[in-house]
Amino acid sequence: MLPTVLLGLAIFPQANAQIRALIYSAVEPGQFVHDSIPAATDALISRGSAVGIRFDSRQDASIFTDAGLDQYDGLVFLMNVGEAVLDDNGKAALQRYLDKGRTFIAIHSASDALRGTAFYGEEVGAFFDYHPELQNATVDVIDSSHPSTSMLPAQWHVQDEMYNFKSNPRSIGAVVLLSANESSYTDPGPRKFSQGSPHPTAWYQEHGAGVSPNGIAGRSFYTSLGHLSETWQDELFIGHVMGGIQWALATTTTTTNTASLASGTISASAASLTASSQATGSVS
Ligand SMILES: *[C@@H]1O[C@H](CO)[C@@H](O)[C@H](O)[C@H]1NC(C)=O
Ligand SMILES: *[C@@H]1O[C@H](CO)[C@@H](O)[C@H](O)[C@H]1NC(C)=O
Repeated sequence: MLPTVLLGLAIFPQANAQIRALIYSAVEPGQFVHDSIPAATDALISRGSAVGIRFDSRQDASIFTDAGLDQYDGLVFLMNVGEAVLDDNGKAALQRYLDKGRTFIAIHSASDALRGTAFYGEEVGAFFDYHPELQNATVDVIDSSHPSTSMLPAQWHVQDEMYNFKSNPRSIGAVVLLSANESSYTDPGPRKFSQGSPHPTAWYQEHGAGVSPNGIAGRSFYTSLGHLSETWQDELFIGHVMGGIQWALATTTTTTNTASLASGTISASAASLTASSQATGSVS
């Protein structure tokens, strides 16, 4: 009996969370794998549980079906790299998911994934071009009124990769929140594309541009920061990321886990957790 009781106690608070989000951190075989993915995933899961967001983490594309994705109010593409992170069926499921107005978040090298998939790039806001070597830099807060930036100093000193992009995210409707101060670090270039000024580093879209013409556009948030494992221990950085995630999930187009349960799209796992918790008397 004892292990069951412990399991029930350990899992019940998460099963109680109202909002569910999927962290997808697949990387194409042979491409660069960030060793900060586990630290990032752990940080999101632990911070999420404190604010009522239950994150599941997957690196397996088999979750990209209508039934698999409909369990979630939002998707977090975390440090993906490469086109092969989704096959054609997975991309089509992602497009249908976005067309339902669901939430999309992308972090760091997720802008270097699915580069042949135009709607994905538009949902992120821009594709990655290149970065100079990891170094210390200053990031300027362009808009301090957003939940992802309100806790940051106006000039934020970071140690990270300062990404350059292949297009200007403003051109598809994104609002830039953070800007790399280009005189605070060294970039030998060349910058071949016009990414707009000031240099975009994090942004949001109230209406994600990856939606199909007849779809409902949900919110999108992207930050290019987060390369190092150490960064995912930094309170300011985690505040930035969680603020962006919470903003993106706080939308009228998001279907909550509660609604999913009511409509029967989430079945066995939540119900059986409740049953086993009750059976062991751990519900108080
Ligand atoms: C670079 O940033 C890191 C982390 O913020 C800091 O510990 C280090 O002292 C900085 N290095 C320089 C040369 O400023
Ligand atoms: C940009 O960085 C330079 C060099 O560190 C600094 O002198 C300048 O004040 C910074 N400007 C802003 C707006 O952060």
